[in-house]
Amino acid sequence: MKYLVTGGAGFIGSNFVHFLLGERSDAEVTVLDKLTYAGNLKNLEGLPEDRFTFVKGDICDADLADKLIQDTDVIVHYAAESHNDNSLSNPRPFLDANIVGTFTLIEAARKHGKRYHHISTDEVYGDLPLNAPELKFTEKTPYNPSSPYSSTKAGSDLLVRAWVRSFGLRATISNCSNNYGPYQHVEKFIPRQITEILEGRRPRLYGTGEQVRDWIYTGDHSSAVLTIIEKGKIGETYLIGANGEENNLTIVKKLLTLMGKDENDFEHVNDRPGHDQRYAIDSTKLRTELGWKPQFTNLEKGLEETIEWYKNNPDWWKPQKVETEAKYAKGGF
Ligand code: NAD
Ligand code: TYD
Repeated sequence: MKYLVTGGAGFIGSNFVHFLLGERSDAEVTVLDKLTYAGNLKNLEGLPEDRFTFVKGDICDADLADKLIQDTDVIVHYAAESHNDNSLSNPRPFLDANIVGTFTLIEAARKHGKRYHHISTDEVYGDLPLNAPELKFTEKTPYNPSSPYSSTKAGSDLLVRAWVRSFGLRATISNCSNNYGPYQHVEKFIPRQITEILEGRRPRLYGTGEQVRDWIYTGDHSSAVLTIIEKGKIGETYLIGANGEENNLTIVKKLLTLMGKDENDFEHVNDRPGHDQRYAIDSTKLRTELGWKPQFTNLEKGLEETIEWYKNNPDWWKPQKVETEAKYAKGGF
């Protein structure tokens, strides 16, 4: 099987490429990635040379997409502008990458009749109230995105659904909850706090910190995506989650404690405008229909391993750190 993985030099895409080439000895992978600030070739080191090719390019480049997709069995589309805070300060790149980029890929996929899997987020459903723990997102929850990031991801999902219905595109969609683990850019919540502590500064909590995210180790996201590609029903959407709900305040305190600091040694900073309150995934469909289950369900152990990785890999994250913090400082975050 020949796979084209877009965004494969980013956090979750690169994780999937390592997972796929490790799990399936007959898989060949081409990564198409523009290498934006979020892409890093170091994430792709150590892959088998005979089964892996890297192409630097933009998913909005229709000629390139056409050429690569012609020679592919399955497209797995991870490439995106992925950070809410960036989308609030400069939305335009999100429209280009997330909407036009997806359009370009599904046009080529339908022209050549190729299998397409679309990676999306639970944020397309908006948020849940904090005072109703029994509520969770399901595949039937109406779309209600809050930010330029989540609305462009929602738009891209809807394009895929329309291409399935109108053109018979052989596609599946997955909407996953918040990922964490090695190789995540230091702009995101968990690596930002770990690297702040490692650099001797205090973690930054937006607002009260009572917002809840449903954390999943990125390796479990990868195994779920492969399950859907191999066993999923064409035209269907699957929610991916590992029952990892925790509020931001608790995560910051856990990180501080695990790193040998006082659990109250953090700062409250400006809240994010339009901040989503709670995400929570009901992944029953994926578990019962396709038999998937997560392997890494101990959040504390996962955080410990993630801290170890950032401790041991300063050469990977230090080059991103100064620019990221300068961006945050400008917005008061
Ligand atoms: P990331 O920002 O770490 O990586 C994105 C990658 O896409 C980068 O390598 C970047 O260079 C590449 N890219 C961006 N624009 C491109 C373009 N126009 N052409 C080619 N390549 C381009 O993101 P991530 O956190 O790994 O997220 C990957 C996917 O998973 C995204 O679609 C995101 O919406 C989705 N997702 C993320 C999470 C999460 O917690 N991070 C949760 C659910 C779903
Ligand atoms: P983030 O990693 O940006 O993911 P998302 O917005 O997709 O959920 O943020 C996770 C949560 O952490 C979110 O509620 C915002 C909060 N947050 C902070 O409190 N401080 C920070 O420095 C960052 C980056 C995020």
